[in-house]
Amino acid sequence: MGRAYRAPGRVNLIGEHTDYNDGFVMPVAIDRHTSVSLEPRTDRRLIARSDAYRDPAEIDLDAIGGGPTGHWSDYVRGVAAVLERDGHRLGGADLRVRSDVPIGAGLSSSAALEVAVGGALLGATGIDFDRTALALACQRAEHEFAGTRCGIMDQFVVCHARPDHALLLDTRTLEMKWIPLPDQVAFVVCNTMTRHALAGSAYNDRRADCEAGVRAIAARVPGVRALRDVTPAILETNRAALPDRIYRRCRHVVTENARVLDAARSLEERDLDAFGSLMGASHRSLRDDYEVSCPELDAMVESALAAGAYGARMTGGGFGGCTVNLVAAGAVDDFRARVAGRYLEHTGHTPDIYVCTASRGVEACPL
Ligand code: GLA
Repeated sequence: MGRAYRAPGRVNLIGEHTDYNDGFVMPVAIDRHTSVSLEPRTDRRLIARSDAYRDPAEIDLDAIGGGPTGHWSDYVRGVAAVLERDGHRLGGADLRVRSDVPIGAGLSSSAALEVAVGGALLGATGIDFDRTALALACQRAEHEFAGTRCGIMDQFVVCHARPDHALLLDTRTLEMKWIPLPDQVAFVVCNTMTRHALAGSAYNDRRADCEAGVRAIAARVPGVRALRDVTPAILETNRAALPDRIYRRCRHVVTENARVLDAARSLEERDLDAFGSLMGASHRSLRDDYEVSCPELDAMVESALAAGAYGARMTGGGFGGCTVNLVAAGAVDDFRARVAGRYLEHTGHTPDIYVCTASRGVEACPL
């Protein structure tokens, strides 16, 4: 008997490039999904088809392996391989992938695909699955089979998300706190419709920069295992030991962690002006210190602030993709029209703009 699972995309409200530094993040799942329907086969092969790509993939569960190939099915192969390695005996299946999560827009279409595939494969075994274990398996699949050394944020929220809430996650302990989203505001996602080619390799470069910073500081300060353990005071005291680029990368992460905790407090207190200015500070830090923004993201942020948003920032890995914007609920239509006009004027691109409804994590869905 066939079945289907669906997993959402996500938008991160604040806490960017902190998750592979044991830091804090605050994502929400959006109401765009990738669904995977599954028809069992009698052999041990997975035949995967996607509505978004022409060529199907055939995967032999008894001879699975290899690294990244660049094919869309790397994610399917990776998740199946890691689940098998974790001791799950999967059955062969025909898989069909459908999605309305834009690809390459910084809304985690890859985590949505991984988690939906994992949910479908495990669901077919009839065993209840542990959401955290699934998220960790999907993260490993992304490291080994897609070649991105990502943190845990995307897979984790795609597995655990709750409607109407943001997730404050401590990526070191995986402790979660749910923060209700206020009714009087909307989080609006603005897609720049651009993606720069260096996004993949630059991500791993940034991670390597952070690790270099940790090594230099840990040689001087006992107990430092990750940038999570570095306070602004420790960073300043050790500035001379760090090349300027590494210092600025570390400064972004250290200050961003503090901003996430402040933002969580502001959201709980419904202090939207404070939340908005933390978003602005996050964007500037990503642009100037971490250097993962681009002219289109900066133009979109500038357009949003001119259109009256409480705050605006790039979201996700950077180098194109989307911004997230905090906007008064009653002003969304006006905001949308003004941002679109101004961004078009600056860049010549017409953006996609949608209001994000915080959704639930991976779940079974109708075939
Ligand atoms: C990508 C990665 C995440 C996270 C963000 C940046 O989305 O998959 O783990 O590092 O970039 O915050």
